[in-house]
Amino acid sequence: MNASPPSHLLSDALTSCARLIDPLSDFPPGFQWGVATSAFQIEGAAQQDGKGPSIWDAFCEKPGVIADGSNGNVACNHYLRLEDDLNLIASFGVDIYRFSTAWSRVQPKGHGAWNEKGLAFYDRLIDGLLQRGIKPYLTLNHWDLPQALQENGGWENRDTVHRFVDYAQGMARRFGDRVASMTTHNEPWVISILGHETGVFAPGIKSLASALQVSHHLLLSHGLALQGMRAEGARMPMGIVLNLSPIHAATNSQADLDKARLDDGKLVRWYMDPLFKGNYPVDMLEAFGAAAPQTQAGDMANMATSMDFLGINYYTRSIASADDSWGVAQGGRRLTDMGWEIYPEGLTELLLRLHHDYSLPATYISENGAAFDDQPVDGQVHDLDRIDYLASHITAVHEAIQQGVPMAGYMVWSLMDNFEWASGYEKRFGIVHIDYDTQKRTPKDSALWYRDFLTRQKALRQKKAPLSAEARG
Ligand code: FCB
Repeated sequence: MNASPPSHLLSDALTSCARLIDPLSDFPPGFQWGVATSAFQIEGAAQQDGKGPSIWDAFCEKPGVIADGSNGNVACNHYLRLEDDLNLIASFGVDIYRFSTAWSRVQPKGHGAWNEKGLAFYDRLIDGLLQRGIKPYLTLNHWDLPQALQENGGWENRDTVHRFVDYAQGMARRFGDRVASMTTHNEPWVISILGHETGVFAPGIKSLASALQVSHHLLLSHGLALQGMRAEGARMPMGIVLNLSPIHAATNSQADLDKARLDDGKLVRWYMDPLFKGNYPVDMLEAFGAAAPQTQAGDMANMATSMDFLGINYYTRSIASADDSWGVAQGGRRLTDMGWEIYPEGLTELLLRLHHDYSLPATYISENGAAFDDQPVDGQVHDLDRIDYLASHITAVHEAIQQGVPMAGYMVWSLMDNFEWASGYEKRFGIVHIDYDTQKRTPKDSALWYRDFLTRQKALRQKKAPLSAEARG
């Protein structure tokens, strides 16, 4: 991965990747291309300008929980490098930029007083995007709950639902005239299961019952926040982002097939059924037994409040085995630096299945990307594996479109290398390399490839535009 290939090989590889997608370039005319980040992973300035601590600030202080012992205090220093980073984003020709607002930056305690300096930062970010012709896609909760709310029980406490609705309404009042899209939560499964069942993510709790109560409150706060923001007059498309994968049974044994059904229930149906059907899957309520969440009358209807779009984060498939003896490596495919199997056709499979089972609204791939151990060589990063990963997954999205799935856009995770949660800075997902000693940004070959791909997409769009005008007569 680190060796620099001879330049003729590099250009051969780039051309063959380009060939892989160019014949498939008939993405729908309004299809949006972007890059994604999240506040805690890039902003730094953890205590600057009145920002309060979040559960991730607190979690990073616990010994042994972050692989390299790091934290988000500086990260990519995006808070102080905003103008340069805006120019960087614009240099790739993206239509959209997906980012999150840090709740404890704009409302340090998660309730009550707003922090004008924090709000002003997001004004500059949003206005800077608009000035550059890029649509701002805002995510309200990418995991960094204000620590003050955690001290009051966090997402396990039903009161946090109402605190979140207030926060969402405040953000809609402030930014609703300018953001092009509003996402409530990023990956509630991760907050619930990794944060509260396995405890490997903040806030580090280990209880299935807590995790399920948290997932209930997240989905409820999502539905109530949509209602609350609409009541404030916000009219931009609103939705949620889920991390979803196809789950394949390791073997055809009944035990493995049963495990696959349960894993699918826990990852996919536990979220999709309430959001799109207004109920929890009955088999999962049975399987969870006494750990199932406490609910109140009206919750299910509120959770199913109609959404304008669904965002899906896709990285890999998942393999279910009853005795957990079946490692991902046995899939026989190559793995990324996270140990995640590279399985692009799983994305097409997932999209077709979801559309079949739930009749999808406008759907985005709101994150897709890969970590590789890439390092600059003479000021360049030859991350051909990442180009291959992105090209094959974009092709998988195209295949789903051909088969009728209403896809609205695709976002690369991530704009730049960043704080990868419990993996610290050791895993690099960026299409831009960050040197954390100097904060130097170096676009990797994948960034240049994406830029060229988007240039060709735009040229095709323009070519098609007069045709479709003619066709309309
Ligand atoms: C997703 C997260 C994102 C990033 C990628 C690799 O689960 O939403 O913040 O960590 O994984």
